[in-house]
Amino acid sequence: MAIQTDVDMEALDGILSATPDIDSGDLIYILQEIQTAYGYLPRPILSEMSNRTSIPISRIYGVATFYEQFHLAPHGKHTVRCCRGTACHVRGAQSVSDAIARTLKIEPDQTTPDMLFTFETVACLGTCFLAPVMMVDDDYYGHLTADKIQDILERYT
Ligand code: FES
Repeated sequence: MAIQTDVDMEALDGILSATPDIDSGDLIYILQEIQTAYGYLPRPILSEMSNRTSIPISRIYGVATFYEQFHLAPHGKHTVRCCRGTACHVRGAQSVSDAIARTLKIEPDQTTPDMLFTFETVACLGTCFLAPVMMVDDDYYGHLTADKIQDILERYT
């Protein structure tokens, strides 16, 4: 049975028809294609995908929530990740996080209304020697202080 939704199914139709005989082994690829088409993974699209394939919805959500690359909510053009790990915390990560929130006027796990930035906090970015550190997309910024944040974020506007 088709899902009633406001989300346009046309892109899903194209993705599924381009990959016949889909099974769980194709799941990451298909989810990447859906995210490219919609900008994130809309829940009605995942339900419809499950209906049209033999892949259980639990398996789809299992993969969608396991990999950091997938987003279940609309995501900004740029992703700001502020580390809140111990090494960063003791070197002032909270004031950096507060400065990001002040500059973007959003809290962690939110996206700016213009869809330019999504702000996330993470447990460790793996570059503790740069503490406190944040990433904007694939760019690392280390030894941060709150007064550097606005200049850095303006580079992405
Ligand atoms: S604790 Fe911040 S990068 Fe590791």
